[in-house]
Amino acid sequence: MTDSLKPAGELTLRTLAMPADANPAGDIFGGWVMAQMDLASGIRAGERAHGRVVTAAVKEMAFQLPVKIGDTLSIYTEITRVGRTSITLSVEAWAHRARHRLLEKVTAGTFIMVALGEDGKPTPVREE
Ligand SMILES: CC(C)(COP(=O)(O)OP(=O)(O)OC[C@H]1O[C@@H](n2cnc3c(N)ncnc32)[C@H](O)[C@@H]1OP(=O)(O)O)[C@@H](O)C(=O)NCCC(=O)NCCS
Repeated sequence: MTDSLKPAGELTLRTLAMPADANPAGDIFGGWVMAQMDLASGIRAGERAHGRVVTAAVKEMAFQLPVKIGDTLSIYTEITRVGRTSITLSVEAWAHRARHRLLEKVTAGTFIMVALGEDGKPTPVREE
């Protein structure tokens, strides 16, 4: 699959998979990977919105490969749509394997973030 050869989007977050994030077999919990993708979406969308954002929805996700303790996880984001108050991002998670010079895509998903105003209600995203 050609889309699995190279990450798409901007590198937004890098972190290390630690033992506390894994089950006894050394496999990292999917929820931890999703949390990193959510964080990266918040960073990228927050920069675009110039303010506070919240996760409104996450589209269907599947985990193609496991993440192991010691892997470096890199999250790439691309803004694919800016609505009135929402920002849609295509998000990819890639694992840099600890003992190998190998970068593999473990999962990808679509995150929809909504800009919030001071009152905590959806607010229009300004033009760039
Ligand atoms: C997300 C939230 C702010 C939307 O509030 P709302 O009153 O429903 O606002 P609206 O109906 O005006 O929708 C705002 C935008 O979000 C989009 N949206 C809302 N729910 C959506 C969904 N399930 N899927 C896709 N887009 C959605 C709308 O299309 C709209 O986009 P647009 O302005 O670009 O057209 C509100 O539901 C909320 O606060 N949810 C909790 C968010 C949260 O706490 N996330 C972390 C969970 S731990």
